[in-house]
Amino acid sequence: MPRPNQNPLHNLDEWEEDLLSRYPDPESIAQSKPTEAYRNYEEPSRDTVKEFYRLNHTYQTYDFVQKKREEFLKFNKKEMPVWAAFDFLNQLVDDSDPDTDLDQFQHLLQTSEAIRRDGHPDWMVLAGLLHDMGKVLCLFGEPQWAVVGDTFPVGCAYSDKIVYPEFFQHNPDFTNQSYNTKYGVYAPNCGLRNVTMSWGHDEYVYQMTKDYLPEPAQYMLRYHSFYAQHRENGYDHLMDDHDREMFKWVKLFNPYDLYSKNPNPPDWNELKPYYEGLVAKYLPANLKF
Ligand SMILES: [Fe+2]
Ligand SMILES: [Fe+2]
Repeated sequence: MPRPNQNPLHNLDEWEEDLLSRYPDPESIAQSKPTEAYRNYEEPSRDTVKEFYRLNHTYQTYDFVQKKREEFLKFNKKEMPVWAAFDFLNQLVDDSDPDTDLDQFQHLLQTSEAIRRDGHPDWMVLAGLLHDMGKVLCLFGEPQWAVVGDTFPVGCAYSDKIVYPEFFQHNPDFTNQSYNTKYGVYAPNCGLRNVTMSWGHDEYVYQMTKDYLPEPAQYMLRYHSFYAQHRENGYDHLMDDHDREMFKWVKLFNPYDLYSKNPNPPDWNELKPYYEGLVAKYLPANLKF
């Protein structure tokens, strides 16, 4: 059998557009604004998204995640100031897609600006600015299915609340008796800090920045793609009371990530002094990747 294309998405935004079609903006529904205010979701991209999830659900095994944690959580790949990291991240722009109007940094800035406009604490604004920084994993050669996509616990049964649950049948853990029971390697309500999540940009950026951010911001970064819980409540049996408290913040964060995309980029020169101050307040001179 030919080796499947490891990167079926035309660009990483395709996954996020799919999220928008699964979780449409309640405000645009209320005002019956056409959802094309974001971007029209077309059938052909549904196939690439489906293939993307097939790969993701097939290969994100418990052992795969341990291997990636071992490889990337040493943070010995690169060291650079945050501002250089945004430039690095922006190399992800896909110029084969004429429709890709906004680069990665614009999405981060629009998310953080929407949070700031609503008067939330400055560390939440910073979480908005940083939340997708982990996508630099793609630039280290990682396949899309190991960088983006909805995240979920590994080492226990997959919830049918995860998108395309049928693809988990191809995952070797699906038939491994250590991993395929409701709790698997975990204890009931053990708390997510004891649970290993599928590998991707969320865990990576959380681990990269956790020493510098208050705990609610850490949760926002770490679980922002955990839709099976923050939208679908499929893993309550692994959460403890502290997680439930912290997930109020994760839920507060999610709409800023999903619904802040706007074709008009904010004026960076005007915003720069604020963000330079914010980054200097919380983060060290260099981040380690
Ligand atoms: Fe993300
Ligand atoms: Fe995002």
